[in-house]
This record gives sequence, structure tokens and C-alpha cells, in this order.
Amino acid sequence: MISDASRPYIDASVPVLRQHGLTITKLFYENMFKAHPELTRIFNMGNQANGAQQQSLASAVFAYAANIGNPGALGPVVKRIVHKHVSVGIRAEHYPIVGHHLLGAIAATLGDAATQPLLDAWKEAYGSLARLLIEAEAEMYSTAGIQPGETRPMRVTEVSRDSANVVSFRFVPADEKPLPAFQPGQYVSVAVDLADGTHQLRQYSLSDAPGTGSWRISVKREDADAGTPAGAVSNWLHQNVQVGSILQVSHPFGEFTPNTEDEQAIVLLSAGVGVTPMVSSLKRIAAVNPQRRVIFAHAARDAAHHALGAEVAALKAVMPNLSVVTFYEERGDAQDAIEGRMNVNLLPAWKREEAEVWMCGPHKFMQAQWLSLLYLGVPAARLHREVFGPELLDHLL
Ligand SMILES: Cc1cc2nc3c(=O)[nH]c(=O)nc-3n(C[C@H](O)[C@H](O)[C@H](O)COP(=O)(O)OP(=O)(O)OC[C@H]3O[C@@H](n4cnc5c(N)ncnc54)[C@H](O)[C@@H]3O)c2cc1C
Ligand code: HEM
Repeated sequence: MISDASRPYIDASVPVLRQHGLTITKLFYENMFKAHPELTRIFNMGNQANGAQQQSLASAVFAYAANIGNPGALGPVVKRIVHKHVSVGIRAEHYPIVGHHLLGAIAATLGDAATQPLLDAWKEAYGSLARLLIEAEAEMYSTAGIQPGETRPMRVTEVSRDSANVVSFRFVPADEKPLPAFQPGQYVSVAVDLADGTHQLRQYSLSDAPGTGSWRISVKREDADAGTPAGAVSNWLHQNVQVGSILQVSHPFGEFTPNTEDEQAIVLLSAGVGVTPMVSSLKRIAAVNPQRRVIFAHAARDAAHHALGAEVAALKAVMPNLSVVTFYEERGDAQDAIEGRMNVNLLPAWKREEAEVWMCGPHKFMQAQWLSLLYLGVPAARLHREVFGPELLDHLL
């Protein structure tokens, strides 16, 4: 919470921040990386280059300002940030650095409009948000029993091609000590040293069920496109990792965790490599409650780009109430797929009020399904989504 004296300044700056938010966060990152080049090791420099992270931090600042009198609305956002932060190893001593450069960028961008009381109000607001995050992050590190930034060496035991551009890597702890538990839907950060000498982290959802004694990630190769370079880490993993390779992997975190232990019907929707948390969840449901009613719908470009499809199809043999619906943009001769993008109107009916709907895929896919599902009468509280990049938070603003 912030003081009554600061409140009017924060309220008044919401429209100003909306207007200048991106300029502020771009300048903030530029100045911070100049002063602290070591921080480029923990930030995703791909997201910096394509603008996604700037957009995300700007949204978090807007969301905070817009909801300053209503901290409850920020709960889910804070939870997501905290999980992401602990997965990459953010420490309490990083906060003053970010605060200093963020305040500096606000002052530089607003010029004369950045009066001292306004800057003081933002300093206080940043401080209170930072304290909230630092406390929550300390608790998570302590519960997980790890130090911030800790990774474990893992030995790769299996490499398998799961579609035209997805390869799965299975690994076990190199020291042969047991793996910690995880919930389906959680992800790990993988740390790599790239050929250009940079060190980078990326998150990958665990794509197999818990309790197998090993972990598996399934990585889509991000190809170069007109005007955009090939993805740095996904290509590095595809090109360099073999059976016997050692990968540095974080503890699992993440709050996008489908309720796999319930009896209630559940709907799992995915597109592209967004299938990974869904396969982990479905396999867990098959193990604990194979009778459960599950609608599993997936959208892919075509059969060749459909990752982990055979594993899902195989579960139909043990899950009598599982409906699998597949959409291919180009159906070819895949008779059991529906041609086109995912259309939730074509899924089997379910009790809209009761079933939780979990979705994962590209941002546009999620926006489209989110709106269609609301239109179908699914309450917003039943909808959950995971974006494989910084969350743009547009559904909260
Ligand atoms: C919670 C979570 C779970 C995830 N789970 C999975 C998973 O299960 N499987 C999976 O495959 N991925 C997953 N991801 C995505 C993964 O973390 C990476 O983002 C992905 O592998 C791409 O990383 P990269 O290093 O290959 O690409 P990057 O180098 O980070 O590039 C990302 C994109 O930015 C573009 N780009 C880079 N530089 C520029 C530039 N200068 N100008 C314009 N554009 C640029 C690239 O072309 C590319 O499209 C997950 C992400 C999150 C956050
Ligand atoms: C009040 C302060 C902060 C806020 C509001 C904030 C907000 C955010 C948000 C919204 C995300 C994206 C989460 C998502 O994936 O959806 C994020 C991720 C991240 N944050 Fe923070 N953050 C804060 C402080 C910090 C600090 C102090 C650091 C460390 C220097 C930091 C480093 C990161 C990193 C490395 C990521 C992962 C994304 C990437 O690498 O691009 N953040 N933060």
C-alpha cells in the first residue's frame, strides 16, 4: 500500500504512463544494461530484441498504477512475476538497481512534468511493490530449498524428434540424487553458454508426467524469418545437445498448473509447442484418474508439425472419457483432423459453469480462444492461460 499523500500523484500519472510507458521502459533497460552488463546474463535478450519484455514491464507498471487502490486485482499478476523471477534467480539486491534506473527513465522521459512529489510518489510505489515481490520470492527460494540462481547439472539420457521442428530432451540429475517434485504445467529455466560468449536462460515446460524419475522438455526450433533472426537458445539446443550432454537446469516453478487431481471435467486447449504443459497434465490425469472427462484440443500447422500427437492418441486406450480434437491449418489426408484454426464451437459440449479451461499457445491464439470461450458462456474465472514469453497482461487492463 502507499500513503494518502502519494496516491493522487500515482492516479494522475496513469494516463501519462500509458502514453509514455514503452519509451520509459526502453530507456530504463538501455541505461540499466549499460551500468550493469552482468544483468544481461539473467535477462532474455531475445525478448529485449523483439520488444516483448519492454511491453511486459510497461504493462506491469500500468497494471500496478491502474489498480493501486485494488491490490487484489494484481494477485495473479504478482504470482506470475514471482514464479518467473525465482526461476531466473532474481535477488533482493537487484531491486534497488531496477528502481534507480526505472525512476531515472521516468524523470528523463517526462521532463518538466516529472515534479519531485510525482517522483517521490513513484519511488514509494515501486518500493512497496518491490517489498511485496522480495518477500514472496524469499519464501519460494526457502520452500524450494535453493539459493537464488542455482541450477543443477543434468545428464541427457534421450533425444527424440517429435515433429518437423520439435525435439525432446530427457534428462536426469548428473549427481544421481533424486529430482524434486513438480506439478504438470510447471517449467524449468535452462542455462546455456552461446557461441558468441553470451550466457542465456530460457524457460521450458516439463512435457512428461511427474514421477518418472527423469524430466523431459520439448523444444521448438525457432527458425529465422524475413527480418527476424533464428532463435538463439532453441537452435543451440537442437544443434548441440546429444545423449550424454550436460544441461544446467533450474528448480521447477510456474503457477499455470491445471488441476490434475480433481474429478471435475477439464478442457485443455493448445496450439503449436503450447502442447507441452497439456501433455504433462493429460499423462498425470491418466495416471491418477483415467475415468475423468477430458477434452483435449490441439491446433497445429499440419500433421508434420504436430508434436507429441502419438502420445496423446495412445492415452485414448486407457481414458474412456477423453475426447481428442485436432485442427490442422493444412489437413492434407489426415482424416481425423478438422481443417482450419481452432474453433471452440466445434468441440464436444461441456458444462460451461463447471469445467476449468486451460490454454497455452501463441498470444494471438490465446486472445482468439479467450474471447470465443467468453462468448460461449464460460465464466472468466474458469479460464487460465500460459504465454510462452512475457505475459502482455492485456486481458487485465
Ligand atoms: C513459461 C514458459 C514455458 C515455455 N515452454 C516452452 C516449451 O515447452 N517448448 C518451447 O519450445 N518453448 C517454450 N518456451 C519458449 C522458450 O522459453 C523460448 O522463448 C524459445 O525457445 C525461443 O528462445 P530462443 O532463444 O530460441 O529465441 P530468441 O533468441 O529468444 O528469440 C525469440 C524470438 O525473437 C526474435 N528475435 C530475436 N532477436 C531479434 C531481433 N533483433 N529483432 C527482431 N526479432 C528478434 C526471434 O526471431 C524469435 O522469433 C516457454 C517460455 C516460457 C516463458
Ligand atoms: C517491482 C519490480 C519489478 C516488476 C514490476 C517486474 C515485472 C516483471 C514482469 C511483468 C515480468 C514478466 C513476467 C512474465 O513472464 O509474464 C518480469 C520478468 C522478469 N524480470 Fe522483473 N520485475 C521487477 C523487478 C525485477 C528485478 C529487480 C529484476 C532483476 C534485475 C527483474 C528481472 C526480470 C527477469 C530476468 C525476468 C524474466 C523475463 C526476461 O528475461 O525477459 N525484475 N518482471
